[in-house]
Amino acid sequence: MLAGSSKITKGTSDGRLLMQLRDRAARDPEGFWAEQATLLEWFKVWDTVLDWKPPFARWFVNGLINASYNALDRHLPSKGDKVAIHWQGEQDDERRSITYREMHREVNRVANALKDLGLKRGDRVAIYMPMVPELPIAMLACVRIGAIHSVVFSGFSAGALADRINDSNARLVITADGYHRRGKVINLMENVASALNACKSVEHVIMLNRLGIYGNNGKSNSSISDASYIDWHDMVDRYDGYCEPERVESNEPLFILYTSGTTGKPKGIVHSTGGYLTYANATFRWIFGIRDEDVYFCTADIGWVTGHSYVVYAPMMNATTIIMYEGTPDYPTVHRWFELIERFRATIFYTTPTALRMLMRYNIEYAKVHDLSSLRLLGTVGEPINPEVWLWYYRAIGEERLPIVDTWWQTETGAALIANAAGIEVLPMKPGSASLPLPGIDAAVVDDDGNEVRGKKGYLIVKRPWPGLMLTIWGDDERYKQTYWSRFRNAYYPADYAMVDDDGYFWLLGRADEVLKVAGHRLGTMEVESAIVAHPAVAEAAVVGKVDQIKGESIVAFVVPKQGYAEYSELRHSIIKQVESSLGAIARPEQIYFVSKLPKTRSGKIMRRLLKAIVNDAQIGDTTTLDDEAAIDEVKAVYEELRKKITSD
Ligand code: WTA
Repeated sequence: MLAGSSKITKGTSDGRLLMQLRDRAARDPEGFWAEQATLLEWFKVWDTVLDWKPPFARWFVNGLINASYNALDRHLPSKGDKVAIHWQGEQDDERRSITYREMHREVNRVANALKDLGLKRGDRVAIYMPMVPELPIAMLACVRIGAIHSVVFSGFSAGALADRINDSNARLVITADGYHRRGKVINLMENVASALNACKSVEHVIMLNRLGIYGNNGKSNSSISDASYIDWHDMVDRYDGYCEPERVESNEPLFILYTSGTTGKPKGIVHSTGGYLTYANATFRWIFGIRDEDVYFCTADIGWVTGHSYVVYAPMMNATTIIMYEGTPDYPTVHRWFELIERFRATIFYTTPTALRMLMRYNIEYAKVHDLSSLRLLGTVGEPINPEVWLWYYRAIGEERLPIVDTWWQTETGAALIANAAGIEVLPMKPGSASLPLPGIDAAVVDDDGNEVRGKKGYLIVKRPWPGLMLTIWGDDERYKQTYWSRFRNAYYPADYAMVDDDGYFWLLGRADEVLKVAGHRLGTMEVESAIVAHPAVAEAAVVGKVDQIKGESIVAFVVPKQGYAEYSELRHSIIKQVESSLGAIARPEQIYFVSKLPKTRSGKIMRRLLKAIVNDAQIGDTTTLDDEAAIDEVKAVYEELRKKITSD
């Protein structure tokens, strides 16, 4: 029996409304999705709702639409003066509120400038910016002219940025000089300059002078050439006036967002325009039941998919007022987010289990210390939420008054697939379960052979395409097919474990592949391993996730050094540096163990499963496929020895 499977009932719902909608969607999926699409404004209506050539789905074929028009222009007549973004810098006196009209003006200016630079429909633009309003402005400016943005999380290193620029052949990079992080200045421009040494496709760099790191002349201290450097403000001030939004076909890409998989190379997840927008918009309404007076605070960084769908696109298509915060939740104190909820009278708060676990550690009843009475709904996303943490969220922040929506989804799915649709009606909540698939989502849990199972852990699948489904992996249709559509026949395979209980509720039980979730950030074991083996002293490396009380998982690396490298403490330090410079601090291994061998199968594959069992003190299971049984004992012996050392320190 799973802990915390008792029900908590909120409101008076009996699920009838939701069931009606689910039935309607199941009876006539195309009619149902077409209805959702009409909530957006199209320049021309589609000819065909769905063109399904498995596994490639094309939605609203020949429909013409523009994302920035839907996010901005159509609100101007009635909601132009409504605040789009309450922005708060890490330093408390840095604050801006921007209306939809002002957003529109800025987006048009930037779009005009991009056009003048020769950017065209279909061109790729890499955006590497901190959480400042110019980030969504840059995204909307790109899509206004039909360019495809590829936002790279500002916590990624120069190496990770260069890989992403090169994979998509971006012509332009939009960045900032830097930002504040826990009181320190983080320099982004330095990373851009170093990434560009390895990128041939980039013609221009636009830099927002956020901190004045380089004085008034942004490029003076960097290696970017005069010809390619553009100051954001110089540029924007030169352009004014309207920029006609490009009428793009529904299946032209809106954006690429790179995410980790099981190989060393991140995948460029490509999302469509019409289908993605339709799905993000519909789910936002179903889950949050968004109202005109809402002040919505989603804490996700825009560099990840939650920020794309539920900070930028869905809220803005609904003319929602959002709160955007530059800093971390625990700086200068753990009261920061709650001060912002009070300050801006937030009504919806949407965050991650990692953040909640961190906040919970301080043993503060936040709702007693702060006036959180404006809140009406809480949400969580990104990782499984442990029932204890769910209950703490419910009490210490929600005062047992607020429903919680646990939303399951992935970069690939565009927006949430399994979630309590509180905007339709709040179903009874079970702490730790994301509840039911949303209308139109045909999900199931199956065993190894693809047979549906109940009450038992299995693999989550989705049996029918939905409009938010990715188009493909950038430049690699075959990898898209193999990764998501080959494990089970005619079904999308997200690589998550799940269980369906007797009430049909879904319990998400973590990844079924070698993708890590470290503080909610998605990282591949192979990616981290490639970074480690790039170190000249390393012969081989294996990385696994260790259960972490706060971050969900932390990274543990087993490293086989090359002969002659024995200075372990220095080596450990320089390996960490190596990982930070090729991927970023988020990929830093928490522990590194030096061993002489790694456990492998007869075919030479590293048995990470065994290493994972060792670091998590779990059952090791079947070792018969081990090439050399001594290797696993050896690893275990080294580990035990090191653990003793660590605990005695
Ligand atoms: C995990 C984040 C349990 C899952 C939106 C998925 C979750 C991966 C939940 C995708 C949830 C996301 N409960 N697990 N509510 N939400 N996950 O692409 O393993 O960063 O496959 O998208 O996060 O991570 P991604």
